[in-house]
Parts: sequence; structure tokens; C-alpha cells
Amino acid sequence: MTVATDILAEGKTKTLRPTSQPDELRVAFKDAATAFNGKKYQEMPGKGALNARISALLFELLAAQGIPTCFVRAGSEPTELIYKRLTMIPLEVVVRNFAYGSIVKRFGFDEGMPFNKPLVEFFHKTSDDPQITEDLILELNLVPTAATLEAIKRLTLQINEIFVAFFEARGIRCGDFKLEFGLDPDGTLLLGDELSPDNFRLRDAQSGAVLDKDVFRLDLADLVETYQGLLARMEQPAPVSVSVPSAKLKTYQAEVWVHSRKSILNPESKAILEGIHTLGYGNVQALGAGKRFTLKVAAASLVEAEQTLNQLAQTVLSNPVIEDYELKFKN
Ligand code: C5P
Repeated sequence: MTVATDILAEGKTKTLRPTSQPDELRVAFKDAATAFNGKKYQEMPGKGALNARISALLFELLAAQGIPTCFVRAGSEPTELIYKRLTMIPLEVVVRNFAYGSIVKRFGFDEGMPFNKPLVEFFHKTSDDPQITEDLILELNLVPTAATLEAIKRLTLQINEIFVAFFEARGIRCGDFKLEFGLDPDGTLLLGDELSPDNFRLRDAQSGAVLDKDVFRLDLADLVETYQGLLARMEQPAPVSVSVPSAKLKTYQAEVWVHSRKSILNPESKAILEGIHTLGYGNVQALGAGKRFTLKVAAASLVEAEQTLNQLAQTVLSNPVIEDYELKFKN
């Protein structure tokens, strides 16, 4: 039996313990459900193993698509998973495809209304998890750099695309979900936390039946039975018609901005600045000239589009010895 002193951290639904590997964690999912910031609580035998299994399945799905995650492998107990140890970023990142939950209360959307494009919202992980703007995230140094925040948004949208397709292929609408990210000792951004129906809104696409923790929040049905049914649907292979990626190519619009590395003197920028000064604009103190490329790429996923554009930017659009580039998606 594991003694309590082993515990590194304990939350409402998970307990973290060390393993023999210093860079890993043993995460045990508890047989308990909580809602409304801990005000509602119920012991539920079987829930921990279901949440561990569903999380593992979704982490494996993401890893297969090239998304970096904390998941290493299933643990020796059905309630346990082994994770890489991360320094967690204190943000809850919510992505919404349809209006449910707090956004309905906050902005008066009709429940179940589809959004024109996925909405990403940030909440600060403190006692009452207030919504937080990107400016405030940077002001409070909750992420190391602005680029980390951009990477969090990009990964969140990539993950959303994968989950929407995965659930759609099984007749399930992915309404919204919450993610948390962390940094490994090298500073690499990885998806952390859990991917269980506690953190999703999932609805049967035909009947609208609730397949997530709302069954507990709203006393709609037995949570363990609901999660068992969901897992059975998730474990089914997708019909061939929806699992062939080439049949579903999408067009992604992007911009690649190329500019000289800061430490390198750009003769073009220098010449333009000198010209500007000659024209009498002595108050212009610095200038950096660069190139902007606009592109449309047909790809099976946002992950694939990003891979193609990164390769192109590094080999054709920029000179990696003296230039840096930024990639921005427009849709
Ligand atoms: O409550 P709200 O509508 O903002 O929740 C959006 C999504 O984030 C839901 O899927 C919910 O389960 C999840 N969430 C979470 N943990 C929180 C808050 C929300 O997993 N602390």
C-alpha cells in the first residue's frame, strides 16, 4: 500500500505520486465527482478507472497526430496513468464549438448554438478561476513569452480539430472542453492534466443526450453508466468513410513573415532608414524590413498544414542562417 507521505499533490479528482523515474509522475484518478467548485461532491466507484482509460485513449489519439503531451503510458492500476513531470502553466484553456455552460450565462447565447469558428477563452487557475485576457496573462508572467501563448492557442485549435472529427465520426457533438498546458525541463510546451468527460461537453448528435459531467451537475443520469457508454462508443473504430483524411482536405490560409535575425545587420533596413533620415524624419529611430507571404494550403488537418508551412518557411521562404520567420493562421 502506498503511504500518504508519497503524495506530491492532491486535487479534487486526482492524486499525484512520484515513480522511480525522477522525470515522471504516477497520476491516480479518484472515484469521486465534484461540481460547482467543490460544493457538490459524490463518491462514484468505477469513475477513476473510466476517466483514466478515456484520458489515455484521447492522449494516444493526439500523440498519433503529432501533438506533444505529458502522457507516457497506462499505469499498473486501471485508475493510474504515468505522465512526464511538467511545470504547469496556471491557465485553463477552454475551446468552444457550441454554446453551453458559462458562456450562455455570461453572454446570453442560445444553448447549443454553433459558433462561426471555435472560440478560445482563458481562465486563471486561482480560487475562483476568473476569465483572463491575453494582455493580463503576459502582464502577470503566467507564460514565459508571448510566443508560448501563441503556441498554446495554436495547439488548442489543432487539438479541437482532432477531437471534433473523432467524436463526429462516432455520432457525438463536441460542444466544448478545457485543456491545461505545462513546460518540461527543456522548456518544451506539452499538453498536461486530463482528457476526461469531466472536462468536456459531449452530446449525442441525433438525440442531444448528455454524455459528460453535466449528467452529474444537473442530476440528469448516472455518471458512471454514462461514461461507460461513452467509452464504448469511443473505442469503436470510425466508419471508413470518415476515417480517410484525403477525403476531407480543408483549405488553411496563413501568412509567413520573414525578417532578419535581431543580431544581424540588415543592409536593406539600414539603407531605408538612412533614406528616411535624409528626407527629414529624424525621429524615426529604428526600422526593420521584412517579407510577408500569404498562402493557402490544402491539408487534412491544422497539424499537417503547420508542418507543411514550417518546412516551406525554413527551406524556401527564408534563409535560416540569417533570418527568422513567424507563421500566422488566418482561419
Ligand atoms: O463552465 P464552462 O462552460 O466555462 O466550462 C467550459 C468547459 O470547460 C466545460 O467542458 C467544462 O467541463 C470545462 N471546465 C473544466 N474545469 C473547470 C471549468 C470548466 O473542466 N474548472
